[in-house]
Amino acid sequence: MTTRALRGRVLRYAADPAEQGAAARRYDEDGAILIKNGHVLAIGDAVTVLKDYSGEIIDHRPHLLLPGFVDCHLHAPQTQVIASYGAELIDWLQKYTFVEEQKAAHPAHAARNAAFLLDELLRNGTTTACAYSAVYPVSAEAVFVEADRRDMRMIVGKTMMDRNAPEVLRDTPRSGYEQSKALIARWHGVRRQSFAITPRFAITSSPEQLEAAGALAREHPSCYVQTHLDENHREIAWVKELFPDAQDYAQVYERHGLLGPRALLGHCIHMTERERERLASSNSVAVFCPTSNLFLGSGPYDLAASRDPRFPIRTALATDVGGGTSYSMLVTMREGYKTLMLRGQRLPADEAFHMATRGGALALGLADKIGTLQPGAEADVVVLDSRATAAMAHRAETIRDIEEELFLLMTLGDDRAVRETYVMGEASRPKGSSEPTQ
Ligand code: GUN
Ligand code: ZN
Repeated sequence: MTTRALRGRVLRYAADPAEQGAAARRYDEDGAILIKNGHVLAIGDAVTVLKDYSGEIIDHRPHLLLPGFVDCHLHAPQTQVIASYGAELIDWLQKYTFVEEQKAAHPAHAARNAAFLLDELLRNGTTTACAYSAVYPVSAEAVFVEADRRDMRMIVGKTMMDRNAPEVLRDTPRSGYEQSKALIARWHGVRRQSFAITPRFAITSSPEQLEAAGALAREHPSCYVQTHLDENHREIAWVKELFPDAQDYAQVYERHGLLGPRALLGHCIHMTERERERLASSNSVAVFCPTSNLFLGSGPYDLAASRDPRFPIRTALATDVGGGTSYSMLVTMREGYKTLMLRGQRLPADEAFHMATRGGALALGLADKIGTLQPGAEADVVVLDSRATAAMAHRAETIRDIEEELFLLMTLGDDRAVRETYVMGEASRPKGSSEPTQ
């Protein structure tokens, strides 16, 4: 039985600042989080929380303590695809991604890269992520094993693709179904691991495979579904050719039972009004991946449209490594801010930090466990230093309040601002790979 208290400036959200503004924020200037057996026992002002407590106190003052970040979309086998030059989505997939992902067939390679990914996420303060693997079950297995070793809450899917990809990267409707089923039996709901049914996108899955994915979703309603939607114009035109009788891209997924409250749809940049209506009425989640949308030239997400009261769409935030260019949710927030500026929209710091914490947890239906640090929740915590670099410390001299400080953190911060990351109340340390490197 371990009990420990973290002391610092404690910040979290009790509601969505997009709806309630600053009133959604809970901030204790001298705060503490009391943790017992990996769960939050009490949180609030230090005097109250630490009254009658005589155990270990880790003093992080003057730094900020927040719920660990939640990254709702990334690709585990793309840690060596990140920073590949000069191509939009389809060419980028064919020239770089489909070449690199073949290496994930080798267990040692998959294990090494999974270990790197999870250590890197923790170094950046991300404690939960939704990860695509490669098509090979061993690639998904590697992420689960490394996440479980670190006790990280992760959502992982074996990518299904049975066409429009190199032969060695294809499964079949039947093998994709059976391999996913086996991974669900082995990992879904085991400790902190969950499975996502993962047809890569409509281009690389035949109607038969989408049907098999839909069958998995019906048979395992507690699993997530993750895929891509409306990222790039050439992609959308190709989907139209492949599914000539579908009204639009979203309908391809909808017909196979792949929309719904547990569906995480990457990008959703170029949606029609009908697609917006279908995402809203099915309660599906659009995942905003700003660094990727810029890097691959896909275009800026329309956050204001996702808040249209006629069809409000749940939105989550994600890095999309390796189309995305950073593991850091702080960097992701600022690139989100910039892409929204291009649309004449704004992303206040409270909304950005909410999206990266409680908002992500809500998108995953996990707000009782992560993203809030409310009593009873799992104690995943990130410690942030607003003066981590010379430029940050210099700018911080003129900061007047917590809102300005958060905006400084998201505008100038990165992994250097992360002083510590706690997973289930334990400080995380890089673990590296359990497998020999190649
Ligand atoms: N669409 C299908 N696969 C991918 C991928 O790996 N990355 C991105 N950004 N979009 C995709
Ligand atoms: Zn993606």
